[in-house]
Formats: sequence, structure tokens, C-alpha cells
Amino acid sequence: MPIQWTKDLSTGINELDHQHQGLFVMVGALQEAIRANRLDRVADTIRFLERYAVEHFATEERYMRAHGYPNLPEHRAAHLEFVAEFRRHGQLLASKGLRPLLVVEMFGWLRDWLAEHVRSADGEVARHFAGVGVRPPGWVRRRVEAPAESRLPLAEASQVGPDGPAEAEPPPGSGPRKR
Ligand SMILES: [Fe+2]
Ligand SMILES: [Fe+2]
Repeated sequence: MPIQWTKDLSTGINELDHQHQGLFVMVGALQEAIRANRLDRVADTIRFLERYAVEHFATEERYMRAHGYPNLPEHRAAHLEFVAEFRRHGQLLASKGLRPLLVVEMFGWLRDWLAEHVRSADGEVARHFAGVGVRPPGWVRRRVEAPAESRLPLAEASQVGPDGPAEAEPPPGSGPRKR
């Protein structure tokens, strides 16, 4: 099944969201090229994907630095590990030729890594961005209406219990109540 970008994957930064969408679209294009047995397109897409991923990681790391993301070193290590693994797959394909089994294996790894990374690692970054005030695209502050009873004047509201207004206290100095 092709991987799809959905709104819950938003990082709150348009540029990063567009790049994630682009990556997912390219993974879909790679899947389609494999399905159609178009090896020329497979090779082009793999080359393009590597460049695009490297550029995306650099952009993402720039935003993380700008917004003080504390786990940048670990996140960057994950990006570097991906690039190294991508190149290992690429070298294997270059030395052995675009064998369907190798291509499918690389595709499976690529799709799973990207889907998982964007959801979990980049999701953690998105939560940090939200915490420091970066809002998702289209975010609008909504005015929340207070419930009716909390709009009563304060003195009156403080006497409203679950069963309605409480009995008023006798004024000071009026002495104990007569029974
Ligand atoms: Fe990302
Ligand atoms: Fe990332």
C-alpha cells in the first residue's frame, strides 16, 4: 500500500510538510515504476530521492536548530544513518544491477523507514515546535465561550452549588438564628 501524508503528520512548518509530501509522492512513484517494471525510472527516482532526502534533512535540522530542539544530535544521527544505508543499497544496485529482488528490498526499507521516521521522530519534533509556539498551518485561535453560570457576577457565582444558589449567610452581627 502506498504511504500517504495525512494532516496528523504536520510539523507546523509548511516547508517541511511540503517536503514530507514530496518524499511520500516519490516513494509512490518508485513503487509505480517497480510495478510497471520501468527500470530506467527506478534508477532516476532513486537518484532523485537521495538528493531530495539530503536536502530535506538539512532543512529540517535548520528549523530544529532555530527553534532550540534539544534532541537535535540524536535526530541528526538518524538522518545520517538513513543516508549511509541508502548509499549501501545504491552501491549494491550499482554493482549487481537493478535486480528486481534488490530493488524491492530497497523499496521496502525506504518506505518503512520514511513512514516510521516522519510519524515518530519528526512527530516528536512537531510536538516541540508546538510547545515553543510554532502553530500548524491554518491554525486559528478560537474564542471559547464560558459556560452560562461562570458568567454570573462573582459573588453570586460563588454561592451557586450543584443544587442551585446556596442559602445566604446572615449578615455579621445579626446573632445566631432563632429556630
Ligand atoms: Fe523529516
Ligand atoms: Fe527527521
